[in-house]
Amino acid sequence: MCGIFGLISKKNVLKSCINGLKLLEYRGYDSFGIAGLTKDNMFLYKKPGKISLLEENLKNIKVHLSLAIGHTRWATHGKPTKLNAHPHMDHKSSIALVHNGIIENFDEIKKMLISKNIHFQTDTDTEVIVQLITYYYKNDLIKATKKALNKLIGSYAIALIHKDYPNQIIASSKESPLAIAIDEKKDEMLISSDPNAFLGKDLNITFLSNNEIALITNKKINIYSNTLNLLNKKYERFNSKKISANKNGYEHYMLKEIYEQPITIQKAYFGRILDFNKKVEFEDFNLSKNYLQNLNHIFILACGTSYHAALYAKYLIEDLAKTHVFAEIASEMRMKELLITNKDLAIAISQSGETADTLLATKLIKNYDSNILAIINKTNSTLSREATSYIFVKAGPEFSVCSTKAFTSQITVMYLFAIYLASIKKIDKLNTSLLLKELKKIPSKIKKVLKLAPQIKILAKKYSKYEKFFFLGRNYMYVAALEAALKLKEISYINANAYPAGELKHGPLALACEDHPVIAFLSNEKTYDKMLSNLMEIKARNAPILAIASKKSKAIEDIADDVIYLPKTIDELSILPSSVASQLLAYYIAKERKTDIDQPRNLAKSVTVE
Ligand code: G6P
Repeated sequence: MCGIFGLISKKNVLKSCINGLKLLEYRGYDSFGIAGLTKDNMFLYKKPGKISLLEENLKNIKVHLSLAIGHTRWATHGKPTKLNAHPHMDHKSSIALVHNGIIENFDEIKKMLISKNIHFQTDTDTEVIVQLITYYYKNDLIKATKKALNKLIGSYAIALIHKDYPNQIIASSKESPLAIAIDEKKDEMLISSDPNAFLGKDLNITFLSNNEIALITNKKINIYSNTLNLLNKKYERFNSKKISANKNGYEHYMLKEIYEQPITIQKAYFGRILDFNKKVEFEDFNLSKNYLQNLNHIFILACGTSYHAALYAKYLIEDLAKTHVFAEIASEMRMKELLITNKDLAIAISQSGETADTLLATKLIKNYDSNILAIINKTNSTLSREATSYIFVKAGPEFSVCSTKAFTSQITVMYLFAIYLASIKKIDKLNTSLLLKELKKIPSKIKKVLKLAPQIKILAKKYSKYEKFFFLGRNYMYVAALEAALKLKEISYINANAYPAGELKHGPLALACEDHPVIAFLSNEKTYDKMLSNLMEIKARNAPILAIASKKSKAIEDIADDVIYLPKTIDELSILPSSVASQLLAYYIAKERKTDIDQPRNLAKSVTVE
């Protein structure tokens, strides 16, 4: 998975292409490259590493490009070297092409082309696309492109330029997003894997559907069907003039996003709590009350951090709305028998709305006639177009690869959804007003957690020397433990395993020793005493214990080596303060270890391959 950006304009496009790629770096930052056309030549510049690190070098290049295509890579086929960086060229050096996706039958095509004496230079699957287009090319570039694309199995969003066509970019996509945009005021045509890379612009945009192909010139954009019939695509207004990408003085996006949470959590519930805390409503929600009332099961699918929000929702919906919920890892769900019917509801949770595994599972579920509710942060995402209905979590753009504010906003929205469902189902003894009032107290409690940063920083210094951790919790705090362990792994590269505390004695306890600390989450009233017993078992094995709790007791202070005390809330919401504390802990441990916090090695924010 990677990011593609391209544009044609009257002015020199190099700088805009660099800016676009920088905004797509969250999709991969192993290498980058730009190809463009000067008056008489093909320009190609590519390098391993991040574009942001080399931006100054690039700006010093004196070249005037009227059009360019760019790429930022997350390596799939072939190491992150200069040779494997995109754009890739054909053996005649006439076409340059960028690609996001995976070509599953690349080996077969490569062998066929090699048998025709075509010489390959890279280890990538992408090179077969550009070589195949040249192989088919006989004076009609769009036909040759279409013919080549029809031979591919897999997913792709591509953009290509040809040295003999100085005013055009060809773009196409299948199962990978590609936005096409027109800036009418500036006479500029743009393409991007994600419209959020059109930051600061006011445009008309459309998205290519599977197998469509766009011919973009400096005058107009023609979009054709698979059989090359001209289509009349609808464009929507897209104005991102007010959105900005900056760290506001914070050292990292992650820290900025952690500190935004008192506001983003509030945004997630703002306008959705009505009638003086008696009722929840969602705007543009189109699942009928009658259908929700009679629901059989709910299947929640997601990946990574969003999967942890799914697991939280399972516990909560079962508790409050008494409906059986299955929380499914999207990539696994696709591999098994789906026992889902039109009496069930599928909920897909995704920050980006572009995660390939989540999208593919969603598409599969569509075949079962089940409604799909998408819980998304990014508007204009593929998932929002696939779902029956959606609820935006409204956390705003999240730039750090490690998700923080999007997660707590997902939790907030799932909390509202559970209450909404429970009230539709008229569940006895549901204290809606208390539940909603408690939610409204959360932003100020999060502010108190943020004030603990100096204490957490000191603890981070102490614990940063360890190479492995256990994270433990029970019930909602088990989910907090899972998410906290993932944060630590992602940004500090420390091995961290999360377990329901009761499960430790069934195997993992064999690892407990003095150099294997335990981070324990105890902010669940219901499981507090049982957690203390589990921690006693660990203490007996000499493992250092850092407890994160909201209830003070002598017992916890006797057992744990260190305690972080959090503001108290109800069990159902305790994951919010606990998660913010563990985000700070992971952040400061990573800082001690001097890792690349916003863009950790091997990862990408939006994973658009299976
Ligand atoms: C990537 C990111 C994670 C994220 C996961 C799911 O792995 O690094 O932070 O949780 O994708 O992403 P989504 O956009 O679907 O929530």
